[in-house]
Amino acid sequence: MKRGKVWAGMTLASLLLSGVGFTIAETNHSGGHKPGHEISKVPVTKRMALDLPSAAKEGLKLTMREHLEAIDAIVGALGREDFAGAATLTNEELGFPKHHVAMQREQGATFPPEYHELAMAHHQAAEALGAVIPTKDLKQILPHLEQTIHACVKCHQVFRLQD
Ligand code: HEC
Repeated sequence: MKRGKVWAGMTLASLLLSGVGFTIAETNHSGGHKPGHEISKVPVTKRMALDLPSAAKEGLKLTMREHLEAIDAIVGALGREDFAGAATLTNEELGFPKHHVAMQREQGATFPPEYHELAMAHHQAAEALGAVIPTKDLKQILPHLEQTIHACVKCHQVFRLQD
């Protein structure tokens, strides 16, 4: 039992580390990367700059920091085998309800269609994760957790905020 938990924790940790190992060329695949790739270093200048009013920019950054805290809390809950807690966090903090919170904070600012698509793909990946967590089967949960984190990485590789 204890060993199982340690194993799950290690798998989650290595998954988080490998979750950032994608290159732009691979972003069209949905989770079809090969393991062992290096972390891509997409130069900031290659990313599209979002020119937002400062209030919308602050709102976006707040949402992002909450996203990272949500991932932290979800992985923690899974490590403790608190599946109900992990599912609630996933659905509320990363699923479609969060999109409405994010939009309010962005105060009607306009985004390129590609940004919108990446945002939708990220909420969709989270909803799929939320749906499999109640199975309590890490073999099903971990690939969805990976895809959820990969959706964050994909958007960060394409967009940045204008200074
Ligand atoms: C649809 C696009 C998109 C998605 C999806 C997305 N982000 Fe972001 N995120 C951004 C952009 C754009 C920035 C600004 C980055 C920059 O200027 O370099 C950002 C910045 C951040 C920051 C820095 C916030 C700050 O205060 O500066 C964190 C942390 C972050 N994102 C976490 C996440 C996590 C975790 C996820 C997934 C659960 C996620 N993001 C999903 C677009 C996205």
